[in-house]
Amino acid sequence: MTTENSSRTSTVPETDSEEYSSVNPATDMIDCKLSRRDFVKTVGYFTGAGALGLQLISVETIVECAPLEFSASAHTVELTVNGLVHKLTMDTRVTLLDALREYLKLTGTKKGCDHGQCGACTVLVNGRRINSCLSLAVTHQGDQITTIEGLSGGEELHPLQTAFIEHDGFQCGYCTPGQICSAVALLEEARRGDASFVTPDLAHTGRVELTPEEIRERMSGNVCRCGAYPGIVQAVQTASRTL
Ligand code: FES
Ligand code: FES
Repeated sequence: MTTENSSRTSTVPETDSEEYSSVNPATDMIDCKLSRRDFVKTVGYFTGAGALGLQLISVETIVECAPLEFSASAHTVELTVNGLVHKLTMDTRVTLLDALREYLKLTGTKKGCDHGQCGACTVLVNGRRINSCLSLAVTHQGDQITTIEGLSGGEELHPLQTAFIEHDGFQCGYCTPGQICSAVALLEEARRGDASFVTPDLAHTGRVELTPEEIRERMSGNVCRCGAYPGIVQAVQTASRTL
């Protein structure tokens, strides 16, 4: 069976003894291998836990990925992700998104458009949201990177994750992790008093009131709100009161 998307082509073997191999043409330097049984288990984990970004890195189905060959532009960088420091040697052209997904197996951060247009890859860098598909990993030495997997405190969900559940703000597994990360940064931006395009009084200092219009504008970088948009707005308002 063959599955394809814009950035990855994969072949799923028919028996347990066969291996599942994939190459990411974005970097053309990763070789990951996974058995058919593990592939099926992984799909199950993704659909059940992916949207909340529950930690998948320790799942047994995730196996080693190694550079296929030494690259002349290889560079060693220490990435601090969710409080853990990872020393990685990678091609300087690898994006932060690919470093998170392909090297660290933090697959909660999703690759949607890979062109900075959908927001699915949103992560927090030093508390600010960025599109990780537009940022090179080697530029993040010393930064504090937080992905959807790092928002919860162990078993306790981040208040925004809880609010998304309470208000049914979930969309598909691709869109929700980026939206939650975006919303977490949004709350901090409003607390700091950062103005948005629809903020009525630009001279106002202090916390910005998160009206539905403000939330819609500030979440506009995360496209596709297939059906849960009212729930997302309510969840952000609830979390802003909680926090
Ligand atoms: S994958 Fe980064 S913005 Fe779409
Ligand atoms: S494509 Fe993810 S919710 Fe629409």
